[in-house]
Amino acid sequence: MSSAPSAPATVTDAQIRSAAIDVLRRNDLGGMTAAAPDLYPHQWSWDAAFVAIGLARIDVPRAVTELDTLLGAQWRTGMIPHIRFAAQGGDYFPGPQRWGRAPAMPDGVWTSGITQPPVHAIALRHILDRGRENGGHDQQIAEEFAAATFDRWLAWHRWLATARDPEGVGLVEIHHGWESGFDNSPRWDGPYSRVVPGPVPPFERRDTAHVADLAERPSDDEYRRYLWLLEQKRSVGYDDAAILPIAAFRVRDVFFSAILAAASDVLAGIGEELGRLPEAAELRALARRFRAGVTSTIDPITGLARDQDVLTGKWIAKETIAGFAPLISGGFPDLLARQSRIIRGRRWMGHPGLAHPLPSSTSPASPDFRPCTYWRGPVWPFLMVLFAWAATRDGDLVLAKELRGASLDQLSDLTFAEYYEPFTGAPLGSRAQSWTAAAALEWLGSA
Ligand code: SER
Repeated sequence: MSSAPSAPATVTDAQIRSAAIDVLRRNDLGGMTAAAPDLYPHQWSWDAAFVAIGLARIDVPRAVTELDTLLGAQWRTGMIPHIRFAAQGGDYFPGPQRWGRAPAMPDGVWTSGITQPPVHAIALRHILDRGRENGGHDQQIAEEFAAATFDRWLAWHRWLATARDPEGVGLVEIHHGWESGFDNSPRWDGPYSRVVPGPVPPFERRDTAHVADLAERPSDDEYRRYLWLLEQKRSVGYDDAAILPIAAFRVRDVFFSAILAAASDVLAGIGEELGRLPEAAELRALARRFRAGVTSTIDPITGLARDQDVLTGKWIAKETIAGFAPLISGGFPDLLARQSRIIRGRRWMGHPGLAHPLPSSTSPASPDFRPCTYWRGPVWPFLMVLFAWAATRDGDLVLAKELRGASLDQLSDLTFAEYYEPFTGAPLGSRAQSWTAAAALEWLGSA
């Protein structure tokens, strides 16, 4: 008998959908969805927004609950923290004790003390759209939720536009790589190299127990710096003004800023529907300010957007997917056309070695590229949904279609991995990652 390798079985859309639903059900902690079953057993802020987008395709009330639970973690300042810890604490470090309490934290809720990109209004828009498509109870619950929570989302955007853009330059400042969501991206190598960690209480990482290969995660050296920044924040009670003179990491994050611009326009649209016209006008102005901020960072040679290190005043020009921030924020048509050409070119989606023609977190042509290491190279499926949503908004239907087709091919391995090796397509990081399953549901549309 010959033992020729069998051709991979074709996976149908129905199989992808049912496996993705299964992941979200299993990760449901009741009211909140764990970002991943073992590696991230709590609710993460921007994960929750993408999870809500996926849930809205199958269960609008449950999608509402996801955002409502996250809002329960909102600080009195307006900040939405990057983690809401589950009551039945899963095994994660740094957990609630390490972050401690802050005066602005909501009573009876444990959260981290830093933030994450504001994709939530975009998720709220998806929930409203799905609710209206379905009609009846789904529509009612979605519309009631939008009306009841509009002021809290507004407070969130206002906090970002003030506490995190104290000089009004139209770029959001972050104080920790985790705030960007791109934890160990080459974007942060320069700023982190200048962080001199002070004394950090002893720690034992948990993340490394949940991946096949340690190279898929940040290094211990990176973690020591992460924890020092946490200690700095904690030492001032997480006070927004008091941290500025001492923060060892202050970076204007162009991708975060682009999300704020896009989400502010979306929230303005919801405000207009609710008859909240002055607030909607304020949000439109905020969107313009941050869109202009994003545009101001463009490197004229490469055409990519750049971050800026506040502490040195220098641009950070790394060839990462964050360089395509204008595709998220929107911008002048010639800028968007140039960026669309670049992202589909040979340094990105058109790179000949790719398993699937998708933009990786760092360009495979960059000297910084590491194909297996977290934000230094792998493809992140949830980000593809964000790019396709923005491309559709801006009329770049070709890009949106290409992202969808290649993403569904990638996700047909049914692992719903956190991230994927760009050349082999191998799953990496956590399996059964909630926002990856949610991405699949969004690609497949409503049943
Ligand atoms: N993404 C970080 C982690 O790996 C923190 O948000 O735990």
